[in-house]
Amino acid sequence: MEKLPKIKILDEKNKILRTTSKEVTFPLPETDIQRIHDMLKYLEMSQIEETREFYNLRAGMGLSYIQIGIPKRIFVVSEEVEKGKFERHVVINPKIKSSSEEMIYIEEGEGCLSINRPTEGIVPRHARITLEAYDEYGNLYNIRVREELAVCFQHEIDHLNGILFVDRIDSKNPYKNKEKYRAL
Ligand code: NI
Repeated sequence: MEKLPKIKILDEKNKILRTTSKEVTFPLPETDIQRIHDMLKYLEMSQIEETREFYNLRAGMGLSYIQIGIPKRIFVVSEEVEKGKFERHVVINPKIKSSSEEMIYIEEGEGCLSINRPTEGIVPRHARITLEAYDEYGNLYNIRVREELAVCFQHEIDHLNGILFVDRIDSKNPYKNKEKYRAL
């Protein structure tokens, strides 16, 4: 079995998750570049059934630096585009340039590798966002993301600002205004 990278993900009980992460400067030290690649590998292994079961993981497609206790504005996303084939995103110092008016939500609810309890409710997110960010080598790029990937990016950007998805759910009315948004 492939070796799982050593990544320790903090639980929501840890107050560090409430920190606003700071922008980073380039070049990144080699340790950060390695860590970024390890985080991507971890996410991919969590999405592949065989490794997920072997290592008893929860599946995740996004992970922020603050979730491993480091307050830097860095997150990674790996999306399985076809069986066993992943599309990786390294997102550093992101800036949202535009967002769609249309709002969507994940019908079964969002998930987070730092939240280890059942949750109820929906989180409205922009259906499409355009952002500017740097990759791990300091290259600036623009990307437009939509649908599930857009939800994931907004969820991770929240982490950089110390916000968890459960904060965005009205506990008294967890499905509030559901009819105004499109379900995914
Ligand atoms: Ni999360």
